[in-house]
Amino acid sequence: MPVLTNIGCLATCRDEGWQGDIHVIDDAALAWEDEHILWVGKESDLPYRYSHFEKLNARRKLVIPGLIDCHTHLAFGGWREKEFEQRIIGKSYLEIAQSGGGILSTVAQTRRASGEELIIRCHGILAGMAALGITTIECKSGYGLNLKDEVKQLQVYRKLHNEQALDLVPTLLAAHTVPPEFASAKEDYLKLLCEELIPAVGEKKLAEFCDVFVEKSAFNIEEARKVLNAGNKAGLGAKLHADQLSDSNGAGLAAEMGAVSADHLECISQEGIQHLRDAGVIAVALPLASLFTFQKPLDARRLVREGVPVAVATDFNPGSAPSYHLPLAMTLACVQNRLTPKEVLKGATLYAAKAVGRNSDRGSLEAGKLADFAIIDSPEPDHWLYHFRANACLLTVKRGKVIHEQK
Ligand code: NIG
Ligand code: FE
Repeated sequence: MPVLTNIGCLATCRDEGWQGDIHVIDDAALAWEDEHILWVGKESDLPYRYSHFEKLNARRKLVIPGLIDCHTHLAFGGWREKEFEQRIIGKSYLEIAQSGGGILSTVAQTRRASGEELIIRCHGILAGMAALGITTIECKSGYGLNLKDEVKQLQVYRKLHNEQALDLVPTLLAAHTVPPEFASAKEDYLKLLCEELIPAVGEKKLAEFCDVFVEKSAFNIEEARKVLNAGNKAGLGAKLHADQLSDSNGAGLAAEMGAVSADHLECISQEGIQHLRDAGVIAVALPLASLFTFQKPLDARRLVREGVPVAVATDFNPGSAPSYHLPLAMTLACVQNRLTPKEVLKGATLYAAKAVGRNSDRGSLEAGKLADFAIIDSPEPDHWLYHFRANACLLTVKRGKVIHEQK
């Protein structure tokens, strides 16, 4: 039963208030037992019964809830650095996709990889994420695009969840694009998705959410509605890659379907913003994806002003966002999406937890929630995200256990 003492600034990130209200406690302490938080408050108010607990000294640093990366495409075969070069010299993400590259190139490499190979690679990535203060990760399939390989990706997530410390939240993204063997039979692929693949994944409980890439190179609104309805029938909540490269009223569909989140949104319309607000959908800003595709970033300031909660994530994938560095995405969310550091911190903790349906047990530092937290080498959040460094995380605690300590 340990107590973290001598905390200079503890950002609880409790839900009350709005995006920038992170409910800081200065000169704080935090007590926990096994996996859960028992008490958080001013150190001077630490109840006597906790004062004899084993002590851990935070050395006046910043303590935050464990970061939650609520949008990643974690497991994939190969990389796509050649496309990075092509985009630099002027080809667009869509042109590359239309000429057979993009997602389909990763589909070919992921189909060739064994589950074991994917697991080994993900272990290294997850250790890197833990070292950055990340404790929960949403992870999508979408590089298999047939029953066998989508299930392979989701089983990789299940195994990883069970054999390492971080919590993984799996999402089925079989509607990422149309696989080559169905190139001229999109309707048949949709039939396979709705009648076989989605029900099978639902039955095996391999995913919690169903996601669709709504875009010219992928699926339109009517097709996405069918897929999400099939997901719903199979017990999967809805998520959406919406209005990324063009406005196709993805935000409207997310609202109609009661999705937990609508992600990307670089091209969202004013109407779309109102739909998200009225339906209480979390918007997910993915600044790394805008940066790597040379796109105008989402104006998240506008969303916050209009009353839409905004989460921040990496979108880690081998094409549009080849980095799992969530603190980098967080600093980019300040300078590109125009969120303040405090707003970004709530966006990568409590609002990210909401975007994966996990806010009842994580995302903020409160008695009863999981003891998932990180010590950051900064006096407070503004300083942390402004003075960007390779890694400012000194210590990560997941379910009450230290899983990373910076040497
Ligand atoms: O979120 N937009 C669609 N899916 C990914 C990109 C995946 C890829 O390029 O492999 C994204 O940006
Ligand atoms: Fe994505």
